[in-house]
Amino acid sequence: MNIVTCTAPVNIAVIKYWGKRNEALILPINDSISASLDVAQLCAKTTVMSCPTFDSDRIWLNGREESIDNERLQSCIRNIKRQGTLSTGMEKWKVHICSINNFPTAAGLASSAAGYACLSTALAKLYKVNNDISAIARTGSGSACRSVFGGFVRWYMGVDAEGTDSIAKQIVPASHWPEMRIIILVVDDLRKKISSAIGMQRSVQTSELLRYRAEHCVPKRIEEMHQAIIHKNFEKFAELTIKDSNQMHAVCLDTYPPCSYLTDVSHAISDLIHAYNNAVHSTKVAYTNDAGPNTVLYLLEKNVPEIVGVLQHFFPPGNDQNIDYIRGNLPSGI
Ligand code: DP6
Repeated sequence: MNIVTCTAPVNIAVIKYWGKRNEALILPINDSISASLDVAQLCAKTTVMSCPTFDSDRIWLNGREESIDNERLQSCIRNIKRQGTLSTGMEKWKVHICSINNFPTAAGLASSAAGYACLSTALAKLYKVNNDISAIARTGSGSACRSVFGGFVRWYMGVDAEGTDSIAKQIVPASHWPEMRIIILVVDDLRKKISSAIGMQRSVQTSELLRYRAEHCVPKRIEEMHQAIIHKNFEKFAELTIKDSNQMHAVCLDTYPPCSYLTDVSHAISDLIHAYNNAVHSTKVAYTNDAGPNTVLYLLEKNVPEIVGVLQHFFPPGNDQNIDYIRGNLPSGI
């Protein structure tokens, strides 16, 4: 029997991926940038086993067996087996996969990203794949290609129709900006109403703003963000993060029928952050939302106590608005 275990981090995009140019290959319409969180705090952990006596491929997620006949999962497993360099008959052994997350699944916290990054890395080790793992993870879930690396990561959309150049690369390791912190405000840990995959497909089909964003806004913004990260320019980083999150949600509302992911509590949090930044005359906190109501804050370590105090004052634990706080560091890697 062969066994490999890996962990992979959750990543939170600061320039969002929203829209595919090729659904089957999961190729995006724009570049995106994210930060990978500390694996000790928010991660997926996957063990893969292959054995000559297994008679079928099987998967367990968070302790429950799920169907292996999932198109994306199959495409990931197929890709790995095709690219594997094992040649002793072991490449034909069936595989059993066990994966667990230590955070709410499908609550807009990119669980599929960590999950597919982890699965791809573990299977690639098992089958001795030497090719780019981010490209394989991408075929499970687009944003998963960014979770293959720690630190700040850029997913290059690429131009090749087959997607050979649509891969992720690390911009800088987490040690480059060790003061960076995140706080995740879990507004609601129920499953999303409209998955990212369906939401972005609908946006591609119906939103004119999406095309404008991809052609005119993201190309400039992505370079500015890349530079802001390299130069550790927090104010610029925060402004771009906020603007890009809001633009993605504007695209979601421009979609027909619209995808509405944010709740009154998410809006109340962003209003509070703007009021706070305004009061201190600088952008000390950035907020961003993926396809769900939970808000992720990016801030520097020295500002954590004050911001947590402000948040707890306006959203006291146990009140109606019921926010849970998860605090995390950036440093991460598989
Ligand atoms: C809003 O990677 O979940 O989190 O490729 O269809 O699996 P699929 O979508 P997914 O989309 C993530 C979208 C996002 C923004 C981001 O992470 O960049």
